[in-house]
Amino acid sequence: MKFYLVIIAFVLMSCSQTKDANIKHDVEEKYIDSILAQMSIDDKIGQTNLRGTSSRAKTLSEALKEDVRQGKVGALLNVMNVEFVDELQKIAVEESPHKIPLIFGRDVIHGFKTIFPIPLGLAASWDENVARSSSRVAAIESSSVGIRWTFAPMLDIARDSRWGRIAESPGEDPYLASVLGKAYVEGFQGDSLNNPTSIAACAKHFIGYGAAIGGRDYNTTLIPEPLLRNVYLPPFEAALDVGAATVMTAFNEVNGIPATGNQFLLKDILRDELKFDGFVVSDWDSTIEMIAHGYARDEKHAGELAANAGMDMEMTSTAYQNNLKELIAEGKVTEQQLDEFVKNILRIKIRLGLFDEPYRDKTNEANFYSKAHLDLAKEAAIKSTVLLKNKDVLPLSKNTKVALIGPLADAPLDQMGTWTFDGDKTHTVTPLDAFKSANINHVYKPGLTHSRDLSKTQFKKALTTAKQCDVVVFVAGEEAILSGEAHSRAHINLPGAQEVLIKELSKTGKPIVLVIMAGRPITITNIINDVDAVLMTWHPGTMGGEALQEIVFGLREPEGRLPISWPKTAGQLPYFYNHKNTGRPANKEDYVAMYDIPVGAWQSSLGNDSHYLDIGYKPHFPFGYGLSYTEFRYDAIKISKDTINFNEDIIINATLSNIGKRDGKEIVQLYTQDVVGSITRPVKELKGFQHVSLKAGETKEVTFKISSEQLKFSNHKAVYAAEEGHFNVWVGPNSSSGLKDAFYLKK
Ligand code: NOJ
Repeated sequence: MKFYLVIIAFVLMSCSQTKDANIKHDVEEKYIDSILAQMSIDDKIGQTNLRGTSSRAKTLSEALKEDVRQGKVGALLNVMNVEFVDELQKIAVEESPHKIPLIFGRDVIHGFKTIFPIPLGLAASWDENVARSSSRVAAIESSSVGIRWTFAPMLDIARDSRWGRIAESPGEDPYLASVLGKAYVEGFQGDSLNNPTSIAACAKHFIGYGAAIGGRDYNTTLIPEPLLRNVYLPPFEAALDVGAATVMTAFNEVNGIPATGNQFLLKDILRDELKFDGFVVSDWDSTIEMIAHGYARDEKHAGELAANAGMDMEMTSTAYQNNLKELIAEGKVTEQQLDEFVKNILRIKIRLGLFDEPYRDKTNEANFYSKAHLDLAKEAAIKSTVLLKNKDVLPLSKNTKVALIGPLADAPLDQMGTWTFDGDKTHTVTPLDAFKSANINHVYKPGLTHSRDLSKTQFKKALTTAKQCDVVVFVAGEEAILSGEAHSRAHINLPGAQEVLIKELSKTGKPIVLVIMAGRPITITNIINDVDAVLMTWHPGTMGGEALQEIVFGLREPEGRLPISWPKTAGQLPYFYNHKNTGRPANKEDYVAMYDIPVGAWQSSLGNDSHYLDIGYKPHFPFGYGLSYTEFRYDAIKISKDTINFNEDIIINATLSNIGKRDGKEIVQLYTQDVVGSITRPVKELKGFQHVSLKAGETKEVTFKISSEQLKFSNHKAVYAAEEGHFNVWVGPNSSSGLKDAFYLKK
C-alpha cells in the first residue's frame, strides 16, 4: 500500500509546483486503473455497497465479517464500537480479494461528542469561522473512533419552518448557505483529506429536499430549472468548489423524477457541469424507494435507473448488489459504467489516505469534550443566539433574583437537538447548571416537565416563585425529537401548556425573558405581548446553558441574526424574503385587514394585492433580523458610480454608528434587486455581509464591492449571465430595512 505514496512523493519531488496537481491526478488515476484491472464484476459491485448497521449492536456479526472478507462491502455506516471498526478494517485490508480498505461513515452533523448548536443555529451566526471550527472539532473527535466520512453538511435551502429538517439546514438564503457550506467542508476535510483527523464531507441532499410540499418530509418537489439553479444549487457549487468529497442524493422526486434516478441532476449538472469527481451515495434506501415513488417497477429496475443516472454507492438497500451483474449481462448497464462508480469510490479512498493508513488515529481519543472544544461550542452558541425583542429588560443586572421556569431550563438531552446520537447528555451544561455554577440568585421551578406537557399541576409553584423574584427567565421550546428527519409539524407554536403558563406568569406583572430552544422558528404571536424579551437560542448544544447565562447577564451580547424569515403563523408558510414581486405586490396602502371589512360588503376586490386578510404580508421577524444590547445607526449610503460596465466593480459605502451605551457588533448586510430581467427576479437578494464591531459612540465606514459576476443568474433558457438594466441596492441591518441606492449595469 505504501507503494502508492512512495510513487507520488517521488514524482512530486521532481516537478514544479504548478504541475503537481495534474501529476498527482495522473498517478492517482493510474493507481486506480491498476486495482480495477484485477477486479471481477463481483468485486466491483462490492465497492458500491454501503452497508448499514446498528450503532447499538453488541456483537459483530459473523455474516458481516464474511461479507467484508469476500469484498462484498465498500463502506459501512454506523459501526460505533471501535473494536468492531478495527477488526473489520483488518479483515478488509488483510483478507479481502484486493485488500481495499473500508470507509466508515456516520451522521456527524453538528458535533460528535461536543455538540454545537443545530445547523440552523450555526447559520444564525452568519459566521464562516463558527461553521468551520464546529466541523473541525467534529472531525477531530469522530476520526478518533474510525469515522472518516460524515453525512454533512446538509445544504438544502429551506423555506418552510414546518419541515422538521429545517433544523439541519442552513436556512433560506443561497448566498449565506454557500458561505457556510464552503466553511463546513473546509472544517471537516481539513488542510488535506489524507490527514488522519480529516473526514470526507458529503454535500446533501442533491437536490431540492427542502422544497418538500407543505413542509411534509420526503414529499414531492416541483422546482423550475431557474429556481433550481439560482436558489437550490449554489450551496452545492460552493461545497464542491472547495473539494467536497462526496454527494448524497435526495429522497424526494424533482419534477417527477426521483433524485436517486435523475440523470439530469446526477449526470448533466453534477458531473458534466460541476465536474464532480468524488462519489455519489444514495440516501438510506432511496434507491428502492423509487418503487414507492412509482418510478421503478421493482428492485432490479430501481438498480438500473440509479446506475444509469450515475449513482455510485448504494446506502443500505441492495439493488446493485442483487441485480447489477445481471443488468450488465443483459446490456442494460455497461461494465464501463460500473467501472466509473468504482473509480469514483477508490479515488476518495485514496485521497483519504486509507490505502496507506487504513487504521484510525487514536491520538485524539482523549480529546472528547476537551476545554478547547467546549470553548468553541460555547462561542458558537453565543454567536448563534438571536435577540428578537427587548423591552428594556436585558441584560439583567448582577443581583437580579431570577425565577428560572420552563421545560427546557434543565433538559440536557433536548438542548443538544436533532442528530446527536453520540453526544452524551451528562456533559450538557443546561441553563440551570450554569446559573448554579455562576452563583446566580435564582429559584428553579420548571412549571412543566417537558415541552409537550399539558398538565397544570406544577403551575402554582412556578407562579409563587415568579412573585417572589424580580424577573422570570422562561426557557421554552421544543424537545429535540420534535424537529429533524420525519418530524414536521403543522402548528409550530410552543407545544403543550407552555403558552398557557406564560400567560399566567405575565399576570404576576414580573418582567419575562422568554428563551426559546427549538429546531425551527416558533410562532409566538399569541404571547409576544406577554413577554418583555425574547432570545432564540435554537437547540444550542452542550454549552448552551453557559452561553445563555452570559448573555442574560450581559457578559456577552447575543450576536446572531435570523437565517430564515420568522413566520407569524404556520398558515403563512412557505415564506422567504427573496420572493418575487407579483403583478400585484402587497403594500401598506392597499392592505385590507379582515376585521376592517364592512359586514355585508360588496364583493369587490378589496385590497386587490397579494396578502392574507388575517395576517398581512410580512413575517413576524424578517430574514437577517436580530437586535443587539446597543443600538446602531446607518447613514450616508454612497455608490462609486451611477452606471457601470460589465467588467467594472461598483463600490458601495455607508457609515455605521454605535449610538448606544455599550460596545457591540453588527452584521451589516448588502442586498440588491435586479429590477427587470429576462425572467422575473426576486425583490431582494443577499449579496454580502460583514461583521462590524464598534465601541459605544464609535462610527465606521463600511465598504462593499459588487461586480457583474455577482449579478449573474440563470434564466429560463439556462443562460447564466448578468443582464443590462437598473439595480437597487440596500445596506442595512436585515432584509426589510436599510439605506437604498441604485445603479445601472451597462453592456
Ligand atoms: C437518512 C437521511 O436523510 C440522511 O441525511 C442521512 O445521512 C442518512 N439517513 C444516514 O443516516
